[in-house]
Amino acid sequence: MKILVCGGAGYIGSHTCVALAARGHEVVIFDNLSNGSEDAVQRVRKLSGRPLAFVEGDVRSLESLRMVLSDGVDAVIHFAALKSVSESCSEPLAYFDNNICGTIRLLQAMDGAGVRNLVFSSSATVYGDPQVVPIHEGAVLQVTNPYGRSKLVAEDLIRDLCGARKDFNATLLRYFNPVGAHPSGLIGEDPLGTPCNLMPYVSQVAVGRRPRLNVFGGDYSTPDGTGVRDYIHVMDLADAHVKAVEQLNSSSGCQAINLGTGHGVSVLELVRAFEQASGRDIPYTIVDRRPGDVAACWADPSKAFEVLGWKAKYGVRAMCEDAWRWQLANPNGYRRH
Ligand code: NAD
Ligand code: UD1
Repeated sequence: MKILVCGGAGYIGSHTCVALAARGHEVVIFDNLSNGSEDAVQRVRKLSGRPLAFVEGDVRSLESLRMVLSDGVDAVIHFAALKSVSESCSEPLAYFDNNICGTIRLLQAMDGAGVRNLVFSSSATVYGDPQVVPIHEGAVLQVTNPYGRSKLVAEDLIRDLCGARKDFNATLLRYFNPVGAHPSGLIGEDPLGTPCNLMPYVSQVAVGRRPRLNVFGGDYSTPDGTGVRDYIHVMDLADAHVKAVEQLNSSSGCQAINLGTGHGVSVLELVRAFEQASGRDIPYTIVDRRPGDVAACWADPSKAFEVLGWKAKYGVRAMCEDAWRWQLANPNGYRRH
């Protein structure tokens, strides 16, 4: 297939491009480089052993999208979005513009070009504060911040378009907590500034970029009092995208699918696993809970297996080992211009 990967220069997109190329698909990366880098694209090419096309452009530009879609694209994977919960609370309009308007433009361009297959990056954030774990796709959808709203609205827009165009197929992939890196150590997560998420923060402590970790809350009703999440290796996510995009031609309508391991891991369990993987101490202090955090959240991933034949292969050990290999080899992340 010829696949347009919007946001393919970013963290999950870059790993997915490598996995798509390994399956023999033709990949076109489309990214405005607001959080991705050309260095990542170069490394994706190196890992793929192929000259993958890269177009610098914005998903809010109908004209740029029309250009890249005019050339026989079979499917689109839409990763392009802003993703910081805290930033979305201070800059909600930027999030609505990028994530909602960007999705509308992409749908318009696909509709105009007759491209009928879409895989969309959604998030477990659409479940808000879950009433029951593990979380099933049929759980109540609710959001607690503007980032989450942008994902939920985008899901609704895609679902409505599928309702109106019977030949339009979409899979909404709801990721739990993506972590880890390609086992080569060539590509990985490269947050700008201070990381908000646990794994990149822990790995920057291990490599000496930050003195210690603040553990947000030690009094949750979880086995060790710290927050429990479903961490999922980015290589497993990449594999799920390949399966989802390949399956689109034989599916119809819009389906939402959780991507997680189905296992909860606490903050302290992850810290210990990272210490083992890196051989370094991770000093930490337990501080107040972070506003908006839930105690425990993990997926029921059974639908992914039923529909896509996918289940996670990697555990926390591999997630930490691969994240550490990437961090050690690239202590300052990618080259950015
Ligand atoms: P990322 O920031 O590394 O990648 C997103 C890419 O999209 C970047 O390369 C960025 O430059 C590009 N981009 C952003 N806005 C764009 C625009 N208007 N036009 C063109 N390109 C644009 O993020 P990621 O972690 O790889 O996340 C990918 C997707 O998965 C996002 O939609 C995110 O919301 C979703 N998601 C991520 C996580 C996570 O923890 N990483 C969890 C759940 C869902
Ligand atoms: C966060 C987002 C979620 C998004 C996900 C992407 C919030 C409220 N939620 O999820 O919408 O989809 O990232 O990966 O921001 N922790 C610490 N110290 C730190 C960082 C985190 O103790 O420095 C703890 C948190 O309290 C939590 C766990 O680690 O218990 C995981 O946190 P994080 O990696 O930020 O992910 P989520 O909060 O689950």
